[in-house]
Amino acid sequence: MTDTYTRIVSQGLGKDVARRLGLPQPVELRRHAPGAPLVIGPVLVNGDSLGADDLATALLGWGLDVRRNALPKEKLGAVILVLDAVQHPDDLGKQILTVAASLRDLSPNGRIITVSRTPHSASTPASAAARQGVDGMLRSLAKELRSGATANGVLLAEDIATTAPSALGAVRFFLSGRSAYVDGQFLTVTSASGSMPADVDKPLQGKVAVVTGAARGIGAAIARTLYRDGAKVVVVDIPAAGDHLAAVANQVHGTALQLDITRDDAGARIIEHAVERHGRLDIVVHNAGITRDRLLANMDEGRWQSVIAVNIAAQLRINEVLLASEHFKDAPRIISVASTSGIAGNRGQTNYGASKGGVIGMVRATAPLMESFGGTINAVAPGFIETEMTAKMPFAIREAARRLNSLKQGGLPVDVAEAIAFLATEPAGGINGGVLRVCGQQLVGA
Ligand code: NAI
Repeated sequence: MTDTYTRIVSQGLGKDVARRLGLPQPVELRRHAPGAPLVIGPVLVNGDSLGADDLATALLGWGLDVRRNALPKEKLGAVILVLDAVQHPDDLGKQILTVAASLRDLSPNGRIITVSRTPHSASTPASAAARQGVDGMLRSLAKELRSGATANGVLLAEDIATTAPSALGAVRFFLSGRSAYVDGQFLTVTSASGSMPADVDKPLQGKVAVVTGAARGIGAAIARTLYRDGAKVVVVDIPAAGDHLAAVANQVHGTALQLDITRDDAGARIIEHAVERHGRLDIVVHNAGITRDRLLANMDEGRWQSVIAVNIAAQLRINEVLLASEHFKDAPRIISVASTSGIAGNRGQTNYGASKGGVIGMVRATAPLMESFGGTINAVAPGFIETEMTAKMPFAIREAARRLNSLKQGGLPVDVAEAIAFLATEPAGGINGGVLRVCGQQLVGA
């Protein structure tokens, strides 16, 4: 599961040799550590709209070193392009080109963040063109950055201020080491719901979370991250994984529930366990998933059906029970693990792609139902993540999959966990029905 190549070419002689031979040059990514600064270096907030002024003021309130104009040759930790008032594609160049030269001064692991409005809500074709232009610009810029720097965007619905809780929450997430492996992506803020947590280091204090498939891999990392952020965690996995599950439950000072999520009574058992043992249920993370890869020409019914049953049908059934429960009405959160295979497709994974595309469809359609009682549902779609599953891939295929992204390395389970933990927090209360890819901006497919 280790990426030895990244460690060798990150420094010293290895770095020199990789550069001379034109080999991929991944760097070790800056990941979140409790107490670490949000961003390393000054933050340039570019833009002359009211929204830019307000955002700059809010960032000053976080104690960040905020600039409204770049100083020559000053190393920057982040550049935030506030483009909330663009009306025409002509407006883009005027503003974006003023920061172009500053990009050379971006620190390693630096951040570019755009804050703009959703194209589909634009009132004129010119404004829609400008807004959609931000999308194309940002995704291209992300591919130009080096040394672990990333570019991501926050999209605001029409009446949402740049300082709405989830706008600030999303900016904070993208600035931080929590988003280390998120690149070339957008978070859409659909409502002004949400609030900043009382304690930014323990944003999930007082919440009870359930994580399925938590005996190992990404699920275990999600459990550890939610616990680190203050939640009481229930870990769920099949009885055969009982020993590993108990070990994870111990690590996170939580409780274990041995349960096959495809059982008819899975939803009821989850609610019953959380409420009986911990008094409430706030967050459900649908992480359990399986692969049974075969080219479609060789696919059998067992492989197809088992993947659909675990990866999507179980989630649909559990959600129905959650949505009907009186115990899941206090601003609850559901976060589902999808996959880039469900977006861009992957050879040998028609069954898996169908199940993970299904997760995205389910999330979009469930969002309005959750909103009716102040809840949210979102999906996180990982790309290549270093787990036991991907360690078993043949060497050449694994190496290709690992490098074919803008950060030229695989993600870690904690990268997926950080995105999920953010979506579970109060500041993400205005983000509903979205899909966030954690894939280092995978270069293949959509
Ligand atoms: P993993 O195979 O290491 O862990 C999955 C866990 O789910 C296992 O502990 C397994 O026992 C459990 N599980 C399977 N069927 C279950 C059932 N019926 N009831 C309860 N638990 C069950 O997988 P990994 O890599 O940690 O993946 C976690 C999630 O992330 C999955 O949904 C997977 O599809 C998704 N994913 C993983 C990627 C990767 O690169 N590893 C990429 C994209 C998505």
